Amino acid sequence: MIAGTGAGDDQELAVTRAPADRGIEQKIDRLLRQMTVDEKLQQVQLLSDGQITDQDAKNGVGGVFSLTDPAKIDHYQHVAVQQSRLHIPILFAYDTIHGYRTTFPVPLAEAAAFDPVVATDDFTISARESAAVGIKQIYAPMVDVSHEPRWGRIVEGSGEDPYLGSVMAAAKVRAAQGNNYAAPDKVVTSVKHLAGYGLAEGGRDYNTTDVSESRLRNLILPPFKAAIDAGSDTVMCSFNSISGSPGCANPHTETDILKNEWHFDGFVESDYTAVDELRACPPKNRDEGPCGHGIAADGPSAGAAALNAGTDSEMVSTNIRDNGKQLLSTGQISMNRLNDAVRRILRVKFRAGLFDHPYVDQSKIASQTLQPADRAKARADAAKTMVLLKNDNNTLPLDPRKSVAVIGPLGDDQHDMLGPWWGQGQDADAVSVYTGIKAQNPNTTFTEGCKMVDADLYDPANECPDDSGFADAVAAAKNADQVVLALGEVRGQGGEAEVRSDLDLPGRQEDLLDAIQATGKPVTVVLFNSRPLTLGRVVANSAALVEAWFPGIEAGNSVADVLFGAANPGGKLPVSFPRSVGQVPIYYNHDPTGRPCDTSQKYDSRYRDIDSCDPLFPFGYGLSYTSFKVDNLRLNTHQMNARNGSVQVSMDVTNTGSRTGDDVAQLYIHDPVASLEQPVRRLRGFQRVTLKAGERQTVTFRLDASDVGFYDNSGKFTVEPGEIDVFGGDSSTADQTDQFQVTGGGRGWSTP
Ligand code: NOJ
Repeated sequence: MIAGTGAGDDQELAVTRAPADRGIEQKIDRLLRQMTVDEKLQQVQLLSDGQITDQDAKNGVGGVFSLTDPAKIDHYQHVAVQQSRLHIPILFAYDTIHGYRTTFPVPLAEAAAFDPVVATDDFTISARESAAVGIKQIYAPMVDVSHEPRWGRIVEGSGEDPYLGSVMAAAKVRAAQGNNYAAPDKVVTSVKHLAGYGLAEGGRDYNTTDVSESRLRNLILPPFKAAIDAGSDTVMCSFNSISGSPGCANPHTETDILKNEWHFDGFVESDYTAVDELRACPPKNRDEGPCGHGIAADGPSAGAAALNAGTDSEMVSTNIRDNGKQLLSTGQISMNRLNDAVRRILRVKFRAGLFDHPYVDQSKIASQTLQPADRAKARADAAKTMVLLKNDNNTLPLDPRKSVAVIGPLGDDQHDMLGPWWGQGQDADAVSVYTGIKAQNPNTTFTEGCKMVDADLYDPANECPDDSGFADAVAAAKNADQVVLALGEVRGQGGEAEVRSDLDLPGRQEDLLDAIQATGKPVTVVLFNSRPLTLGRVVANSAALVEAWFPGIEAGNSVADVLFGAANPGGKLPVSFPRSVGQVPIYYNHDPTGRPCDTSQKYDSRYRDIDSCDPLFPFGYGLSYTSFKVDNLRLNTHQMNARNGSVQVSMDVTNTGSRTGDDVAQLYIHDPVASLEQPVRRLRGFQRVTLKAGERQTVTFRLDASDVGFYDNSGKFTVEPGEIDVFGGDSSTADQTDQFQVTGGGRGWSTP
């Protein structure tokens, strides 16, 4: 089943999209009859915090984003509701990506938990905190599947797998919206960026994506579909072009698929100036504003292209609003389409309860924000996201009775712990690694070793540039029994426009590691980063390695919980970690070739200078302080009727070690003979389990036609008869295997 994480979850993950409400539609009809063309054009305009004025609110602007001061939000809302002719409230939006004030781990980390509970906690709390200040729309979840660690925005999504991404997307939407996002602690989500933004060429932000229809539908769109099925009522279209057609002027993704096939009745907003960017760039010195795609000659045509393709709301640029009348008179846009866009926006505003409760209750904000219970959840959840990549000689957990030297540029850092898109998170609220460890072991020192500075522009001088602090760091290591080395990226090296061509640890950090390792002390490296890094040297020169991502507000406490063993790490990688940047893109669910990689052969698909077919760490990989065995894979039947059949796949997970820990049972399938070649493996189920020493649990997954079928290049969902291979285990290299036969089936199935 799509978007199930294990037996019994299908019910909980069922479609929650509300049917159109007649009462709301009638209210919209009345408003539409009253609205002038100017008022309709205002409604499709979305302005930033820096643009909005009282006059815009009086004119009836549709939306405002990035404004977070509740007094200002309330002010503009009063102007809109009291002074605009039709009293239509403004929809206020914000990039609440992984927390508003209580910052949770970055989204890539949340995916690493392989447990939707983390995403659910985050979006429950961040929706409440956002709504408290008057924000009723969040620009999340970001669901772009990505194979590109160079791309700084890989941190904002759930990694390389569409199934994992679908589960996370659905969990986030459900948590933020609840059953009714008019509730005072709920917001409407905007799933983004439609579509293909995560596969930009070379990882360069905003760049081209060129994909077949089958890849679009099998790889890129599933998390969007999962979010829409979970009820997400808004969508943001993407900057990039998809097979030549920019995301915000793409009738195929915005209208054919989203609105017509999926029956999405909410609205699509453009990304920031994405409508302007549809224009060709005029000759030098005559340009005003962003431009470049060249699918429109000028601003008015760009506005028409966007609206006609299915974009309902224009962010920052004002082409539709300013040129709408002219476009209507020349027939470049129709009144029907404009009415449809306005209807969609008003529908969301009604569903959000804005007409009944437009204002901010400032007296309630404090009690809704940064609550101790929320911090406690952020702490426990961050520990769940951490991935143990190496643990030689049981270096971890650390011995709390022995002294610790915390070393490294990120070792006493609050600022970076929040990660990119920190929302309204405050550095001062964040717990540094040193603070967290010292709280659990007073016999702890801190030495920086070198500096990493979070600056806006790239300058190597900001990235651990020299070894002048190494001697102090080495001395500190020598004086301690155990070393924790906090290395990685600053938060500004991830997120929008933060693309790296090199995936090694920035600056001289690996040299710092070498110097510390030479002391002979057991070195645990804790990594903070937005993306898969090339860690060969780090793995070679450390005793233990923990991928901590950016853990958020409780970073240091969560790291200490993991290092001292109060929390046993059970996260798994949601994305492959390459051996070198030249191996990128490398991902587990790749298509086969006629020359599969075999390092003993020459004429096959591989790098001649890498003695491996694999990444350094595969998707789904992660260790624990205990050990697990996954075995006894079994099917309840070896036949699945494509029309209505299903197969139950069970496997046993046993804790074979000596302490309680978490493992993630993972189910993969492969269709070995199909009319279109099929990925070598595809994740179709996972379940994180906690087991005591010696304990065993059977995990059961259900597969049906929606799992074994695929979209062909005409956009049809196809279930073909034949064999399906099944793999079970606790990483994408799972080696328990069996097969079953699909009978019946055929082309032309409706969307699963
Ligand atoms: C641009 C980003 O691409 C998008 O994700 C974000 O929501 C908007 N800016 C608004 O901040």
